[in-house]
Amino acid sequence: MAKLGHILETQQFKEKELLDKLFSLSTEMKLFDKTSLIKEEVQRCEELSLSKGSRKKIMACLFYEPSTRTRFSFETAMKIIGGDVLSTESAGHFSSAAKGESLPDTIKVVGGYADVIVLRHPEEGSAKRAARYSSVPIINAGDGPGQHPTQALLDLYTINDELGRMDELEVALVGDLKYGRTVHSLVYLLAHRKGIKIDFVAPPEVAIHPEIKKYLQKKGIEVEETKELEDVVRRADVLYVTRIQKERFKKSDGTIDEEKYKRCRGVYVIDERIADLMRADSIIMHPLPRIDEIAQEVDKDKRAAYFRQAANGKYVRMALLKMVLDGYE
Ligand code: NCD
Repeated sequence: MAKLGHILETQQFKEKELLDKLFSLSTEMKLFDKTSLIKEEVQRCEELSLSKGSRKKIMACLFYEPSTRTRFSFETAMKIIGGDVLSTESAGHFSSAAKGESLPDTIKVVGGYADVIVLRHPEEGSAKRAARYSSVPIINAGDGPGQHPTQALLDLYTINDELGRMDELEVALVGDLKYGRTVHSLVYLLAHRKGIKIDFVAPPEVAIHPEIKKYLQKKGIEVEETKELEDVVRRADVLYVTRIQKERFKKSDGTIDEEKYKRCRGVYVIDERIADLMRADSIIMHPLPRIDEIAQEVDKDKRAAYFRQAANGKYVRMALLKMVLDGYE
């Protein structure tokens, strides 16, 4: 029986076999939502739950940045599969970090109370740093503008669920590609799939990092950077839209650079007119929260997959927790 261990970045998920395992387990987790189960299904739910040792397994959510979906879906996932949860939603203010405790010290202590730590922190690299000090697996739930691997896994699960494949795809990424950690995790994940083309569409001040483009090109991924959203939406299988990450637009005095934000916000907006240019068999995704980069009128379009995507987060996180805590064949 193998175990997943720390989940820090999507470069860990290169093998198709591992993704297939994770995704089939995620789909099986939907069984818990059924209201009346036959005997065999009750038995299967028992097997899908965390194995019972002398006590319940405990997940600590240590969140130093705001979250709705990520924290709630992790917490509900852990409870559904029979675990328990410790949580601090604003760890910067409500944990001992407010008294000046270092991240390594907090991690060493929390590791004594929990079997897995889900960490969201404003500094890039913080999850990797935490993992060096942790006695229990660390799950990176967003390290500043770095990565958000479990989001990318649920994103790829959604693509596979909606389109029936995770290879041979043209994926257009639109919005804040510089600070959007979900974008970084998704492209590193896609880099290991076959027949992928990626289009980057962003205001110049939040363009994709050149190193990420280089990484993709080295992996044989076709990459295009363009300003022409309308051309791209006509071709893409997946239109992945992101919020301009205002909280990362800090000036040297720590205040938000409102001028820079105004220059980036609203440059690319998906409305009905843009959606009408898209192919019938394409999908629109967004990690959420959205501000105004997808008009509400698009929500009724059956290709708008973002709320289904958020719902999938629960199943993928149930499967991940099972694979981290109990392992997999
Ligand atoms: C994203 C995040 O926190 O990086 N949200 C999420 O986890 N679904 C995206 C964002 O905040 O824009």
